[in-house]
Amino acid sequence: MVFFKARPDWQRSSAQVTPEQIFWRRRRFIASLIGAGVGLAATSAGGCQRSKAMDGDLERTLGEPLAGVRRNSAFADAGREPTPQQYASSYNNYYEFGGSKNIWESAQALPTNPWALEVGGLVKNPATFDLDDLTQRFELEERIYRFRCVEAWAMVVPWIGFPMRALMAVVEPTAAAKYVHFTSYYDPAVTPGPSLGFARDLPWPYTEGLTVDEMANELAFFAVGVYGRTLPKQHGAPVRMVVPWKYGFKGAKSIVKIEFVAEQPATYWNTLAPNEYKFEANVEPDVPHPRWSQKKERLIGESTAMFSWEEQPTVIYNGYGEYVADLYA
Ligand code: MTE
Repeated sequence: MVFFKARPDWQRSSAQVTPEQIFWRRRRFIASLIGAGVGLAATSAGGCQRSKAMDGDLERTLGEPLAGVRRNSAFADAGREPTPQQYASSYNNYYEFGGSKNIWESAQALPTNPWALEVGGLVKNPATFDLDDLTQRFELEERIYRFRCVEAWAMVVPWIGFPMRALMAVVEPTAAAKYVHFTSYYDPAVTPGPSLGFARDLPWPYTEGLTVDEMANELAFFAVGVYGRTLPKQHGAPVRMVVPWKYGFKGAKSIVKIEFVAEQPATYWNTLAPNEYKFEANVEPDVPHPRWSQKKERLIGESTAMFSWEEQPTVIYNGYGEYVADLYA
């Protein structure tokens, strides 16, 4: 986010928008999508990524079906159509696998089985959850949430998972716990991050944080699936955070550790650029990012082009004020 673009990545000329007829020819469509993404990422590796990805097959990355999951009726309508999966699952931010949006193929190197999610710190019942715990111990539900990146693009995503507070009920944070620190999977041999020299000192592993009250909010969600299937690796398999009233970078992927703590923890983007990426990072149209006015947003995949050119006004808390405004009163 911070290093790789000279301009917001939705700012492209009409010549770069995928023509309508390509939409229906899926393989060629994906190839053109990837070409556009590579063109925007100012990485010297761009050309290699492009030819490699054009031979790939997005569909084989899309996870296993998750049957019998009920849709939570309170979150069945996000006020916008869900983003088609071919867009959402091929246009990702996952810097452990590179600095472009086109990481869906390289992310397949992520080893997700077995998986151990360690939960500890200021809790009464520290616990480690494996893959079966994540998909069977907690009752799974589907929630269609709006998703808003700080880069001013937006999607609508049908996540499958469970509320964060269901996990809190198991581990029972103590009264001393005020914040929660989430850590993503990191192994430099597997997740090297962008291979650019100036990015060598990124503060891996990727970490994020919430207050305990935010984590206990009805909306805060752990996703283990999306679009009816287990999470693809590019979305942060096997378990990632989803906090839809905050900018997308708050949703750490592939979580291995959750620690309840007394003080506000250091987090990845906030450490890198505290003037650009606040710890709180709520969607707020009147609080401009130094490089992206947050007043408007552009939807990915709403039209036949990758980006809808119709700008939408950004809504405070991404439209979820009725659930979260009290947290910030
Ligand atoms: N989590 C990890 N571990 N690494 C990342 O680079 N990127 C964040 C967030 N979680 C990121 C991450 C950002 S900037 C965004 S916008 C969202 O993931 C993108 O989620 P998606 O690719 O599933 O749409």
